[in-house]
Amino acid sequence: MEENNSQVLSLLGGLAIGIVGFQVFRKVLPWIYANVVGPKVFGSSVDLAKMGEWAVVTGSTDGIGKAYAKELARRGLKLVLISRSLEKLNVVAKEIGDKYGVEVRVIDVDFTGGAEIYDKIREKTTGLNVGVLVNNVGISYSHPEYFLDCYKADPKFLRNIVAANIHSVTHMTALFLPGMISQRRGVIINLSSTAGVIPNPLLSVYSSTKAFVNKFSDDLQTEYKEHGILIQSVQPGFVATNMSKIRKASVFAPSPETYVRSALSTLGIATQTAGYLPHALLQLVIHFTEAVFGEQFARNVVLKNILGTRKRALRRLAKEQ
Ligand SMILES: NC(=O)c1ccc[n+]([C@@H]2O[C@H](COP(=O)([O-])OP(=O)(O)OC[C@H]3O[C@@H](n4cnc5c(N)ncnc54)[C@H](OP(=O)(O)O)[C@@H]3O)[C@@H](O)[C@H]2O)c1
Repeated sequence: MEENNSQVLSLLGGLAIGIVGFQVFRKVLPWIYANVVGPKVFGSSVDLAKMGEWAVVTGSTDGIGKAYAKELARRGLKLVLISRSLEKLNVVAKEIGDKYGVEVRVIDVDFTGGAEIYDKIREKTTGLNVGVLVNNVGISYSHPEYFLDCYKADPKFLRNIVAANIHSVTHMTALFLPGMISQRRGVIINLSSTAGVIPNPLLSVYSSTKAFVNKFSDDLQTEYKEHGILIQSVQPGFVATNMSKIRKASVFAPSPETYVRSALSTLGIATQTAGYLPHALLQLVIHFTEAVFGEQFARNVVLKNILGTRKRALRRLAKEQ
């Protein structure tokens, strides 16, 4: 009897070691490659300058979009910058053009508008050999809020956030993908967010638009990979920009320049990526919490945290009034 028990125990022990070993092989090693060894040891093998003469970046007068624009110009690509304010666009175009000696064109459109925006962009980019598209533009809540309170405060906001965060990605892709396919090369980088892959109550519409970006990018990559097109969905955590309202960069909220350099080092290595090791670790901690303590526990922890942020934001707003 005792012998039988010890045989069962060693069988179970072997099985447990086998399962852990299988998970390490299937999940841990690819994670280490995608976030550490690939970008930091080997680096990206994608030569962006060889994709085409021009890069198009949406939401490019500030933050992450401007950092992508600078990095692409540094690598020798000509730029088309797209944002709302012509004045800001001209300042950034001059700054980048002077610094990197590349041609920079600008298009002023508001991505919360309708289909006419894309007619204007098509008209202004006809004939350009666009090899890189960065779908960066995005808008978020001014502070975390319950869905219905958000709607009550501004019913148009729900439409605008979907237009800027989703329609911009699909329409810009539809505009520039055909040219890339005809050249049999091209890179499309879509800015999602960690919010799209972890529980994110009180920012529910924003995080859903970002989940859309991940799914769209993933399936599109499968559709067009054989045409030589690389599509990457980038999922930052906090980056020190106007949107996050974080002024001082830190390890967990890097400057846009630090973030973009890191994200570009993952190009060709990961198609869905946090883009920056500390943000990848943050996602890992949350997914680990979900796996060990249950999804509901993780949701509650995040909710408590975001409710605290909302409370502080409302207090600040009340003081300002
Ligand atoms: N910062 C973060 O912590 C963070 C985290 C995760 C994901 N992301 C994502 O990263 C992307 C960039 O974010 P960011 O933090 O760099 O934003 P940001 O600093 O607020 O910059 C946004 C850029 O988009 C332009 N823009 C804003 N609304 C626009 C509109 N309706 N039409 C056209 N252009 C518009 C702005 O220029 P104008 O004002 O001149 O138009 C600006 O150039 C977004 O998709 C965001 O969701 C950011």
